[in-house]
Amino acid sequence: MKCYLFNEKIKTFSGATVILGKEINFKDYLSDDKQIEYVKSQFDKGKDIAEINLYYAQLYFINFEDKDNLISNKKEKIRVAGSKSASVFNADKTESVTIVDANSDFDLLYLFTEGMLLGNYKFALYYKDREKKEHSLKTLKIYSSLPDESKLKELENIVDAVFIARDYANEPFSNLNALQFSERLKDLANKTGMSFKVLSKKEIEEEQMGGLLAVNKGSAFPPTFNILEYKHENAVNEKPYVLVGKGIVFDSGGYSIKPTKNSMDIMKLDMAGAAAAAGIMYAVAENKLPVNLIALIPATDNAVDAKSYVPGDIIKMHNGLFVEVLNTDAEGRLILADALSYAEKYNPELVVDLATLTGAAAYCIGTQAAVVTGTADDKMFEMLEKSGENVYERVVRFPFWDEYKEMLKSNTADIKNIGGSEAGAVTAGKFLEYFTDYPWIHVDIAGPAILNKKNAYRTEGGSGYGVRLLYDFFKNMIQEKENGK
Ligand code: BES
Ligand code: MG
Ligand code: ZN
Repeated sequence: MKCYLFNEKIKTFSGATVILGKEINFKDYLSDDKQIEYVKSQFDKGKDIAEINLYYAQLYFINFEDKDNLISNKKEKIRVAGSKSASVFNADKTESVTIVDANSDFDLLYLFTEGMLLGNYKFALYYKDREKKEHSLKTLKIYSSLPDESKLKELENIVDAVFIARDYANEPFSNLNALQFSERLKDLANKTGMSFKVLSKKEIEEEQMGGLLAVNKGSAFPPTFNILEYKHENAVNEKPYVLVGKGIVFDSGGYSIKPTKNSMDIMKLDMAGAAAAAGIMYAVAENKLPVNLIALIPATDNAVDAKSYVPGDIIKMHNGLFVEVLNTDAEGRLILADALSYAEKYNPELVVDLATLTGAAAYCIGTQAAVVTGTADDKMFEMLEKSGENVYERVVRFPFWDEYKEMLKSNTADIKNIGGSEAGAVTAGKFLEYFTDYPWIHVDIAGPAILNKKNAYRTEGGSGYGVRLLYDFFKNMIQEKENGK
């Protein structure tokens, strides 16, 4: 959807128009007392939106009564209202909508627009009659007497980044194997001026990334190890921040084939972590945030084949550790582990991995939040929690006590790739810890990144979870550092 911002008072109304405010003076928009009464009565009845059809326009009044400071759940209500109205307009086949910032409240306008834009996503590549299936809403004209052009531009870039993450995630394996994914990442990097490098299978072998190679053994396609790099000349961090994204383009479980009925149906989305990492890179680069940021994306599918790795196999990892594979469905941690130990060469200030890693994380807290653990300072976790509240991509910190390491002991190798039946999200994190020697945050997005139905502006399938979270986090990091100077 294209946004146009006008710093003027709207003179004549035509078409679908949203009058948005916290204390709207209805008289400014309606001349007839009966109409005003009607609108007020709608709000009295508890409706969020009061609609009036004039012969020249349809006016939608949205009146947020609360005058308090915008705390996270109030902010979220406004986004949700924005996404609801997008649904209404799309159902009506409306193509263009005007929004009027009735009380010169740009924060309110921003949140409403955010929800509207995010909710307007549709993955509609695979319909013969694509045009008809796509959302009708294409244009947004915003009238505000206090417009912030650069904030709106920033928002549009963030929304594009979320859509990129959703698009990648939703693309089926038949169109997005590790090579095709790598091509898409290369195109993305070229578009934004980031640098891009991909390690071929031969180079991955030379790097002795035993985890990535083992998971890839049964695949019809070679693995890729993708490196995206963004460097700002006035970066606040000398040592880079590194993102690591799980890029399993399809997860069958391998020989330990997925035991739960229909659970394989969503496993084209098992690269949602990689998709989010790419989206974060895009948002940061397009908005030219002053940071050094790198994304490492190991990619392969996890297939069943005569050549596949099997339970009992012992793998030598990139960092030299030997891992006994007791479940080939615990594949994400194997490819992430190699990427995490590869990250050491950048001497990173902080590494954040994003992965649809465990069903356990999703069972524990559902789609509302990601599970986070790791070795970074408490301050880093607090900042991430704050960002989570701010953008409503919330995180819940799980324990990371060393006792959990016991569960990864193997009889024949350094460690095994599964813990036990308990605390699966934590033991997966503990496994990864063996491959890190820097401050690190692990974000298990198995719950919130994959949705089986639309939830307000979080669309079905890939939700793009993680993009807005980490973008906000890096913005806060920059703020902190600049304040500290
Ligand atoms: N990709 C799955 C985790 C997953 C499950 C993501 C559901 C999204 C929704 C991962 O590779 C996996 O299979 N994990 C196993 C680990 C187990 C074998 C230790 C799991 O969670 O069952
Ligand atoms: Mg698996
Ligand atoms: Zn997986």
